[in-house]
Amino acid sequence: MDTKYIEFKEENSIYYVGFGKNTKKSMTVLDESTLKELSEIISSVKDGQSGKKGLVLHSLSDNCFLAGADISLIDSLTEESEAAAGAEMGQKLYNMIEDLSIPTVACVHGPCLGGGLELSMSCDHIICSDDSKTSLGLPEVKLGILPGFGGTYRLPKRVGLPAALDLILAGKMLNAKKAKKLGLVSEVYPKENLLSQAEKHLVKNLNKKKSFKESIEGFATESMPVRKYIFQKAREAVLKQTKGFYQAPLRILELMEDGAGKSRGSYLAMEAQAFGELCVGEQSQNLRHLFFMMEKSKKLDIEVEETKLANLKRGAALGAGTMGGGIAWLMAQNNMSPIMKDLNTSALELGFKQSSKNFQGALKRKKISVEKFNKLQRSIRGQTDFTGFNKVDLVIEAIVENMELKKSVFSDLEKHVNDSCLITSNTSSLSVEEMATALEKPERFGGLHFFNPVHKMPLVEIITHSKMSNETIAALHKWVVKTKKTPVIVKDGPGFLVNRILMPYLNEAGYLLEEGVSIEDLDKACLDFGMPMGPCRLLDEIGIDVGEKVAKILHEGLGDRAQSNNQSSVMVEKNFLGKKTSVGFYQYDESGKSQGVNPEMEKLLSQDKKMDKTEIQMRVILPMINEAAYILEEGIVETASDVDLGLIFGIGFPPFRGGLLRYADSEGLDRIYKALEGFKDTVSSDRYTPAPFLESLVKEKKRFYHLG
Ligand SMILES: NC(=O)c1ccc[n+]([C@@H]2O[C@H](COP(=O)([O-])OP(=O)(O)OC[C@H]3O[C@@H](n4cnc5c(N)ncnc54)[C@H](O)[C@@H]3O)[C@@H](O)[C@H]2O)c1
Repeated sequence: MDTKYIEFKEENSIYYVGFGKNTKKSMTVLDESTLKELSEIISSVKDGQSGKKGLVLHSLSDNCFLAGADISLIDSLTEESEAAAGAEMGQKLYNMIEDLSIPTVACVHGPCLGGGLELSMSCDHIICSDDSKTSLGLPEVKLGILPGFGGTYRLPKRVGLPAALDLILAGKMLNAKKAKKLGLVSEVYPKENLLSQAEKHLVKNLNKKKSFKESIEGFATESMPVRKYIFQKAREAVLKQTKGFYQAPLRILELMEDGAGKSRGSYLAMEAQAFGELCVGEQSQNLRHLFFMMEKSKKLDIEVEETKLANLKRGAALGAGTMGGGIAWLMAQNNMSPIMKDLNTSALELGFKQSSKNFQGALKRKKISVEKFNKLQRSIRGQTDFTGFNKVDLVIEAIVENMELKKSVFSDLEKHVNDSCLITSNTSSLSVEEMATALEKPERFGGLHFFNPVHKMPLVEIITHSKMSNETIAALHKWVVKTKKTPVIVKDGPGFLVNRILMPYLNEAGYLLEEGVSIEDLDKACLDFGMPMGPCRLLDEIGIDVGEKVAKILHEGLGDRAQSNNQSSVMVEKNFLGKKTSVGFYQYDESGKSQGVNPEMEKLLSQDKKMDKTEIQMRVILPMINEAAYILEEGIVETASDVDLGLIFGIGFPPFRGGLLRYADSEGLDRIYKALEGFKDTVSSDRYTPAPFLESLVKEKKRFYHLG
């Protein structure tokens, strides 16, 4: 049989089906052609199985078994019935494998996700390599869908109901060891031996004798009251985790509960229908959009010769404060044996504390061993001078936010590094264009804006200026992607991208409080929109004094529409600086746990206005959209997806909405425009006059995403 995408052969009466034939991609996915070919292969196996010893599924790639169904294929399904029919086709194919009379085994090395794991589960056995690349899971929920090729049917049978719910509802991945412990895989082998061991497992699984523990567990989860309790607990956990915003986990729970005790055929029909519903829903479309934006951010549209890019092997952080410590951790995590420089040893201690805290988190979650923890922590060299900087390829400056100081540090630094070393600043508000004037070689300099805390926040803004070379941009971009952070290329300008759009959210909160809206109503309305924190809570986290400073810079740079009221100054005077002083809008105990609204703030504010929740939401969200329009007009970023990616990963704008501008597009820009005009008349013409760019989009009947 002639095949193009899958290797198919027979040796010693065993059929071998190898994925990843003729591909240069690092991940093998189940696209339309592969699925079609697999279907033909399995039909031929079915016809020829008599007298054969078995069927072995494996991968020809050293990186991947099967990373799941092709998301572009899922994206092409626009009708519910079409999506359900697509799932049914996959189910039929996998049922055919399950129903073969010869034994079947999947040999997994590398990621085995989604449709890849569902395929493996239709085999009698799964064996896998002990390699760190190997991971098994059903992550569909993260795309707002469910495993529609029989995954919700087969996983509980393999690992029991509670573990299956835990894995499917959160889209969790398992490494080889955990997969074996749960009973998902039968055995784990070194990668080299995996295929040669397959034959041993070519045994039909029909009469697998259950252990005593398995029998008891099976009995327990099959009993009605116990099942009911399991689903109730799972539903509570989902609602707590997602605040009820996400449809997919709730639909999965409904399916798995209603489908209990049904035959394979009836259950799978229900699964296909639920898949169809979710697949064409707006939430899944938004979450898939996010996936595509993430993929796009890994590629750069600048033409540079790969050989001219600096190879950033050794790093250094200047400043060992909150950010410097986090940056040193990131560099150590990426084997860059960083130098962390500060003014004195007591300052260095803070940086070491910060990095150790981050590594300890990984240690607790068993992501690293004690030995690795010690090795990584020891790889950070704290010092107060420039020794060894001549061997460094990347310096990230994170000293205090002061232009003159930063400039003098850069001109000093340039004397101690070699010519190819890239120099960057983690400034959150100062002009990178101006900073570059302090360097003899400004082309190797740029902004690298991390968010706090570095280990948790995925976004990095790469801030460019007029003298920055394309090679520097490309090398920094490549490095950021390598560290598994999400880069956005942003031109220099007040507040860059994220802080500039965050500004109206925070400023408008001050005005709403002044108008008499209560702290709690304001924060709750924003939480109900899906924001991770209301503006008052967020300001407490950032620090009221820090917020005030940034607001001033933005006001100077952007003019009257960015003017805040004097709420922050009053709070700074009273030392209500937020979490760091245990009092801000809220008050906090010693461990930082919120103890409710600060009663002193309640006295300061009238809090006597009841405003409709949607009105509060529009008051804070519309000016963000308006500011994004200015940003696009000025070319600070190039596309709507840059804005959306920045806000989702920079401030946690609700992912299920697909981003700020995708939300604006879905609401209709004419409606957004009209609402801004309304607030312009009733609230403030400075803050709500629609941006000219937004006006032109409305006139031309275009959307933000016409820009890409
Ligand atoms: N904290 C945040 O949330 C955040 C977020 C993004 C960006 N930033 C930016 O990162 C930078 C650092 O902020 P931070 O919050 O970590 O500050 P920080 O006050 O916690 O730490 C600054 C450190 O720099 C040291 N320092 C000062 N002058 C120095 C010099 N000449 N050489 C070496 N070290 C020197 C100080 O001793 C201090 O330890 C600032 O530019 C800030 O705007 C901060």
